[in-house]
Amino acid sequence: MSAASIRLPLWAQTVASLAGAPAAGPLLLGVDYYPDQTPEALWEEDARMMADFGFTNVRIAEFAWALMEPAEGKFDFAWLRRSVDILHKHNIAVILGTPSAAPPPWLTAKYPDIVEVNEKGERLHPGGRRFTCPTNQVYRRLSLIIASEMARTFTETPGVIGWQIDNEFTLGSSQRCYCNYCQAGFQTWLRSRYGTLDNLNQSWGTVFWSQTYTDFSQIPVPLPSGGDPNPGLALDYDRYQSYANVSFQQEQLDMLRKTCPRHFVTTNNVGLVDTINMRDLYEKLDFTAFDNYPGFFDMLMAQQGRMGSSAFVSSSIALGHDLARSVKGGKPFMIMEEQSGKAGQKTFSPQPEKGQARLWTYQAIAHGAMGVNYFRWDTATFGAEEYWHGILNHDRSKSPAFDEIKQGVRELKALGREVLYSNYVTDAALVFDYDCSWALAIQPGHFRLAYLDQIVSWYGAISASRSGIDVIGPEIDLSAYKIVFAPVAYVMSEKQAARIRSFVQGGGMFVTNFRLGVKTETSQIVRTPLPGLLRDVMGVTVEDYIPVYSAKNGMKFSPALAGPDSECVLWTDILQPAGAEVLASYTMGAHAGQPAITMNSFGKGKAVYIGGDLNEASLARVLRTLSGMAGVKPPLEVPAGVEVTVRKAGNKQWIFVLNHGASSQSVNLPAAFVDLLNGEKLTGKIDIGAYGVRVLQA
Ligand code: GAL
Repeated sequence: MSAASIRLPLWAQTVASLAGAPAAGPLLLGVDYYPDQTPEALWEEDARMMADFGFTNVRIAEFAWALMEPAEGKFDFAWLRRSVDILHKHNIAVILGTPSAAPPPWLTAKYPDIVEVNEKGERLHPGGRRFTCPTNQVYRRLSLIIASEMARTFTETPGVIGWQIDNEFTLGSSQRCYCNYCQAGFQTWLRSRYGTLDNLNQSWGTVFWSQTYTDFSQIPVPLPSGGDPNPGLALDYDRYQSYANVSFQQEQLDMLRKTCPRHFVTTNNVGLVDTINMRDLYEKLDFTAFDNYPGFFDMLMAQQGRMGSSAFVSSSIALGHDLARSVKGGKPFMIMEEQSGKAGQKTFSPQPEKGQARLWTYQAIAHGAMGVNYFRWDTATFGAEEYWHGILNHDRSKSPAFDEIKQGVRELKALGREVLYSNYVTDAALVFDYDCSWALAIQPGHFRLAYLDQIVSWYGAISASRSGIDVIGPEIDLSAYKIVFAPVAYVMSEKQAARIRSFVQGGGMFVTNFRLGVKTETSQIVRTPLPGLLRDVMGVTVEDYIPVYSAKNGMKFSPALAGPDSECVLWTDILQPAGAEVLASYTMGAHAGQPAITMNSFGKGKAVYIGGDLNEASLARVLRTLSGMAGVKPPLEVPAGVEVTVRKAGNKQWIFVLNHGASSQSVNLPAAFVDLLNGEKLTGKIDIGAYGVRVLQA
């Protein structure tokens, strides 16, 4: 979808006309700032330094409830107004955060019921943040009151341009609430989803273990019981929790639309979190705003004993960015918090290498961002985030990344809004379906099989083919793509199956793997042979499905996918082709020689079934070969570790080349280009320095 085709909302028209800008949104190159945690004597100096740095905006106040409402119904915004005024005087615009993620002690002391109950049935305790129930009416009412008071106070205040509602919904230590209020909310939600108890009982199969409900009020939430919950109930509960958070947000959004029509509204979250459906969360907001902390991926890898794979880190970041863009159909997004130094609460992430902070900025832009805010301006000397380094160190000296972030901001301003608001171009899509993630977490089938892991490894494998990827939901029409990847498409609706069928019929290539089409939307197993609704499209029947433990298996490839044999790590589906061509076979055990990968011609297109869980190298090679067969071409041939993406506006095109490695790499250019970052005219073989970036235009 093209950004240019999206009608600008009132806030964007207003901001654009105020700034005298072309038809694009605001320039958001800013920093997350905490005047509430900073002595007032430093505010002026901070604003002056931010302006000198080149920042255009801050985001403030998202955790300052106790200062804004020190006692119930008693509001104090004078300090916040002084801060906004100082920032505005220095030409720094303000995004205000509503503070519902951190209710103050007076509130939890008076209303202890607002505190969430975790999946074990234990009530959390106040004292941290994000410990609240999304359904609780008192918490909702009080959150709306403080947000409304803020909105009324600042709607006409010069310098205020937009809002962040709350902070990272569901991202607390316990990501879903299981309290009595949520149980009642769940029952109401089920009533409107199923209409009758009869329908609900049928849809879940409650006759199993004598769970037939005769009144909606009997329906439990999935807390520990003598056995596992009904899978249909458990899946609906995950849906309900996502809905509860989105509808909590909606109350503040409705109010902000009325009270502050000139301002934009968004919320921040983290891409690879699956406890809230990001498509629903951002549907009515003006743009997606994600937080990006690459250091977490490093820490995660270290925990898994996989130190030093920069490809995993860079592709996990890219996946978050591609999801951010795709969540709103390709519309440019913002990074609300970008890591700027060592990051952590109790332990530090690795120190970003010299050049990485600037590289991460460009990586976001390369994937379709229009703005970046860095986390955070100064580094806290108190509180739970003392280890979280910002642009200034604890002693207010410059952090190691100070100069390169400043350079990046200057360069992006020079590149200008046209690039920042341009479209991202790709022929390929990866389906990321929250239902599949939730249903598979409820019954993984293999204790190491996780949907997000599959998505991350498929994304990594596809991005190795450097063709760009949209990360789409199951409800999207696929006709814009040449190839669509859908790993572990475990829950399959009839509508989604119909879209896939017509995509392949029309000439697209659909690539999927084991556990395809196993479940209905109500988490019952289909009564037809697998892969269920897509059996004719795939041209295979799954004869048996086998989780892999000690009885290993392997795969041998046909000449079309030529390469070394692969091991099969978690899973093998045994395939019986019905017209599909065999592209690989198993090598071990009882099923040696039987088909492992098949490709079916269906209508004008192809459907590929990968029955086994391939190792990293084979998956990358197989998906890259299939992309080539589907006619997807990378904009430039680049070596491993170098990323390339394309953005376009009208007949202008920008090619971003990003080197995620610690040593310089070279790339052969097929034509003459200019590097817009330094004006260099380039042909033939060019160097991309360690953690370097080039923005090329023909
Ligand atoms: C984000 C969060 C911020 C801050 C930051 C560093 O996830 O939104 O408030 O906590 O991480 O921990």
